[in-house]
Amino acid sequence: MRNNRPEASILVIFGAGGDLSWRKLIPALFNLHLNNWLPEKFAIIGVDLKPIELEKYLAHLRQGINNFSRSIHADDPDWQNFSAFIHYLSADFKESDTYTTLANQLKAVEQEWGVKANKIFYQATPPSLVKMIIEHLGQSGLLDDRQRNRVVLEKPFGHDLVSAIKLNTMITNQLDESQIFRIDHFLGKETVQNILAFRFANALFEPIWDQRYIDHVQITVAETLGVEHRGEYYDQAGALRDMVQNHLMQLLCMIAMEPPVSFTDNEIRNKKVDVLHAIRPIPEDKLSSFAVRGQYDSGIIQDKAVPSYREEPDIKQDSTTESFAAIKLMIDNWRWQDVPFYLRTGKRMSEDVSEISIQFKPVPHQSFPPTSLEDWQPNRLLIHVQPNEGIQLSFQAKQPGPQMKLGPVNMRFTYQDAFHATIPNPYETLLLDVMQGDATLFMRADQVEAAWTVMDPILQGWESTNPDNFPNYEAGTWGPKAADELLKQDGRHWFIPCCFDRSKK
Ligand code: BG6
Repeated sequence: MRNNRPEASILVIFGAGGDLSWRKLIPALFNLHLNNWLPEKFAIIGVDLKPIELEKYLAHLRQGINNFSRSIHADDPDWQNFSAFIHYLSADFKESDTYTTLANQLKAVEQEWGVKANKIFYQATPPSLVKMIIEHLGQSGLLDDRQRNRVVLEKPFGHDLVSAIKLNTMITNQLDESQIFRIDHFLGKETVQNILAFRFANALFEPIWDQRYIDHVQITVAETLGVEHRGEYYDQAGALRDMVQNHLMQLLCMIAMEPPVSFTDNEIRNKKVDVLHAIRPIPEDKLSSFAVRGQYDSGIIQDKAVPSYREEPDIKQDSTTESFAAIKLMIDNWRWQDVPFYLRTGKRMSEDVSEISIQFKPVPHQSFPPTSLEDWQPNRLLIHVQPNEGIQLSFQAKQPGPQMKLGPVNMRFTYQDAFHATIPNPYETLLLDVMQGDATLFMRADQVEAAWTVMDPILQGWESTNPDNFPNYEAGTWGPKAADELLKQDGRHWFIPCCFDRSKK
C-alpha cells in the first residue's frame, strides 16, 4: 500500500526521444511531481541516438506535457523545478561506451546525493533493441544490485508462446524476476484496479460471483481509431496479439480470479495465473465456434469518412491481419464451469468504449404473471473501464401505476460524481509502483506465457487459413457478422456498450 514517496531513484529512459516518452512517460512524471509523489532525490536520464541540446529537448518535452497531460500546462515554476531532474545523453545503444558513460553518470548522481538510489532502466525502444540493451546493461554491472536495479519492459512480450519463452529466458539470464517490470498499461487504469476493491472489499458480490448466479460475461474494448502511424508494427501483430493476449486477458483474470489471501504482488499474480491455467484449450477443429476475426473496410465515424485498413499507411494492400477479434473462452474450475466469457476488441468501431458486463441468471422461479414481465431483464452489472468510468447495476423495479409491471432500473457509481477527481494516467500509477518495487500490476513471466498458451491455437489456426472475406466489417460498426453468430449459437447477443446515458436491451 502506498503511503510514502519512493526512495531516491534515477530513471533511465532508453528511447527518450520517442513517442512513448513524449506522450506518456514525461507527462505522467510531471503529474507525479505536481502531486508530490516523486522521490525527494530524483533524476531522469534520457538516452537516445539523436544529438540534441538539453534546452531543445526540454522544450520538446514541455510541449508534450502541454499536449497530453491531464493537468494541461507545464507552467513555471513547476516546470522549472521538474525540468531540473532531466538530463539527456546522446548515445548509441549498440556501443559499450554508452553504458560506461551511463554508469559513470549514475555514480556521480549517487555521490552528489550521498545515498544509494534505485536505478530503473525503462525500455521505451523498439522491441528489437531490448535484448541488446539488457545484455549491455548486464555486462556493465548495471543490473547487479537485485534490490535496487530494475528494468521496465513494454509489450510485445514475444509474438507467440515459443518466442515469449525465448525472450523470458534471455531476460532472466541477466535479471532476477523480481527486477523485471513488464507493463500492461490496462492494469494501471483506476477502473481496472477497482475491480479488486469492488469484488474483495464488499461482502455483497462475492457470494454470488460464480456459475450458480452468473450466466455469462462480456468484455468489450472498442476503439474508433485506426492503426494511425503504427501500421508497420500493427500489420505484424493484429488485434489478437495487440490487445487480447494482454489487456483483455488481464481484464478476464481480474473478473475470474479467486480471492487473494493477501494484497501482495506474487499472491495476486498467482491467483491470475490460476485462471489462465484453467482456461479450456480451444479445439483446433472447432476454431470458428470460438474465435472470429475481422478487418475494417472504409466507412464513416463521427461524420468523417475513414479509409479501409488496407489503405492505411504501411499496411500491405492484400494484408490478412485482423483489426478485430472476438473469442469465447470457458474456464474449467468450480467457480466458472459452463459460464462463457466472450471477449471482443477492434479498431475503427462504432465507439470508444471499454466495458465489462456481468450478466446474471434469471430468478429461479418466476412468480409474476407474463403481463408484468414485458420489460423484465435479469440483473446485469456493468463495469465501465472507460470513458465515464464507473459501475452500474441494473435490477427490476415495479413501474409506478395501478398494474404490477416490472422494468429494469439502474444504480450507478461514477468516479466523477463520487470523487470529483480526474482519473490519473495509468503510467503515473505504474511508474510510481516501479520506483517502490511493487510488481502487483506487472506481468510475471509465467503469466505472459500462460496467456500465449491460450492464444497459440487461435494464431496457428488463423495463420493456416487465409481469410478470403477481408475486409468484412465497415468502419464505424460493431465488427463482422460472424461475431454476432459467435453468441447467437449460444442463444445470446452482444450488449451495445452504453455510457450511462442510453437504455439498452
Ligand atoms: C495499446 C495497443 O496497448 O493499447 C493499442 O497497442 C491500443 O493498439 C491501446 O490503441 C489502447 O489503450 P487505451 O489506454 O488508449 O485504451
